[in-house]
Amino acid sequence: MQKRWTYRKTSGEYETISAMIESVFKSSIAPLYPPEGVSFFLDYIKPDKLSARRAGGNISYLAVDHTENKPVGFIEGRTPSHICLLFVDESCRKQGIAKTLVSHLIRHFWDKDPNLKAITVHASPNAVEAYAAMGFVPDGKESVENGIRYLPMKKKLTK
Ligand SMILES: CC(C)(COP(=O)(O)OP(=O)(O)OC[C@H]1O[C@@H](n2cnc3c(N)ncnc32)[C@H](O)[C@@H]1OP(=O)(O)O)[C@@H](O)C(=O)NCCC(=O)NCCS
Repeated sequence: MQKRWTYRKTSGEYETISAMIESVFKSSIAPLYPPEGVSFFLDYIKPDKLSARRAGGNISYLAVDHTENKPVGFIEGRTPSHICLLFVDESCRKQGIAKTLVSHLIRHFWDKDPNLKAITVHASPNAVEAYAAMGFVPDGKESVENGIRYLPMKKKLTK
């Protein structure tokens, strides 16, 4: 079946991206966090915060449903090698969107540093299995910061 989405760098559509992330967060992750973590995260994904981090050098890619022209996946990365956000709309999961967004980010990081050996993420508890399926392994103990529970994970990179 032909894929309904295309991938590209973000270019200013932060209101719709923020709304998509917020909707996914509220159904998939917020129930796992205390109120402090929920409000910290909702502030982190406000449109002006997404935009400011992009202007400050973070890189982000979108999967866009081209039949409906709406974002269905989003990844944000911080150089040299960290995934800050990875979200996929519930209606489009398990069809390779996250894996493709991660591969776009890895290519970007490699462009910056061809010798880069690993990429990291602070995985929310519900996403650990998906990251493991994408080759990430635990890289420390589960921690809590600002009410955000996460497991540090790392994926070795080979060309
Ligand atoms: C985690 C998330 C980004 C995965 O997105 P996705 O587009 O469905 O992932 P993909 O289809 O690219 O799957 C990549 C691999 O993970 C596996 N996978 C995906 N979701 C999984 C799950 N819930 N449990 C176990 N494995 C899973 C897939 O089977 C695939 O493995 P395979 O290549 O061996 O088949 C998505 O479920 C999501 O947005 N969750 C809520 C937000 C979140 O937790 N984000 C992470 C914050 S750190």
